[in-house]
Amino acid sequence: MVVLGIESSAHTFGVGVVDNGRVLSNEKEMYKIGTTGMIPAKAAEFHVKNAPEVIARAMERANVGPKDITGVGYTRGPGIGPCLQVGELSAKSVADELGVKIVPVHHGVCHIEIVRALSGLKNPIVLYVSGGNSQILKRMEKPKPHYHILGETFDIGVGNMLDSFAREIKLDPAWGSSVEKTALGGDFIDLPYTVKGMDFSFTGLQTRATELAKEGKSNRDLCYSMQEVAYAMLCEATERALLLTKSTELCVAGGVAQSTKLKNMLVEVAKEHGAKFGYAGNEYNADNGAMIAFVAEMMLKKGVHSRIEDCDIEQKYRTDQMVLP
Ligand code: FE2
Repeated sequence: MVVLGIESSAHTFGVGVVDNGRVLSNEKEMYKIGTTGMIPAKAAEFHVKNAPEVIARAMERANVGPKDITGVGYTRGPGIGPCLQVGELSAKSVADELGVKIVPVHHGVCHIEIVRALSGLKNPIVLYVSGGNSQILKRMEKPKPHYHILGETFDIGVGNMLDSFAREIKLDPAWGSSVEKTALGGDFIDLPYTVKGMDFSFTGLQTRATELAKEGKSNRDLCYSMQEVAYAMLCEATERALLLTKSTELCVAGGVAQSTKLKNMLVEVAKEHGAKFGYAGNEYNADNGAMIAFVAEMMLKKGVHSRIEDCDIEQKYRTDQMVLP
């Protein structure tokens, strides 16, 4: 079964092709945020301009033609409205033109499912960390199969916190990866640490680090300390989830899972509790179309798809709202 997946929830327009769980191609174009951050209308314009070429390139790299495609998946949410709409409309026109089935999927569930499949884990505790989301989840079967949220951020996602701070101190590009580079060799400064059970909060940490930056504290020390504190908070809450559920598997997924530092800290948590640790290559932690195609194919194999006229987007689509294949 050959399935095309379209991702457009934020700055990336990604298209992937999957055949029976095997990724044949994973192409993308990224709207460059520079030091200004995301401007939704500009990002959507970028996606409109790039969509036809990225779709064509993904099919060419996968060596498939229109007649080979069985279905098309797209990100229903969560994400930025104008960006999501471009993916939705692109998927609708592909489905209509080729006469194939269409499957709306949840962006975060796709990040998780591809990591789970590639790492061979069955039902891990999942730390899902991205720009807009930071959650600890576990698959539950009732009332319908879904990812149950054990804990999550009270306010902003850890990725947004790092990106906003990068903007504040004028790193270019204003990403968490620039914070990780700047942090090398830094010294620790005490910053607010907020964990309540399996939930956590990042705004106090962000506010204090920003204040200290304005007071002239070194960017290197602040980047280092912000990462140390934020990732320690995530690790504490994740460790609690492992202990409470007695799970023997742990994985990390989402944009912030690209951080080597976070992965190293989670390896230690897993080791401490005798749990297997799973993660995927950065091409699947960054936003990408292959993970969308991957889950859309899983859904199609279970006979789940939507009518084109019923397809929509949901900016605030929660991870626990998608019924799993
Ligand atoms: Fe993502």
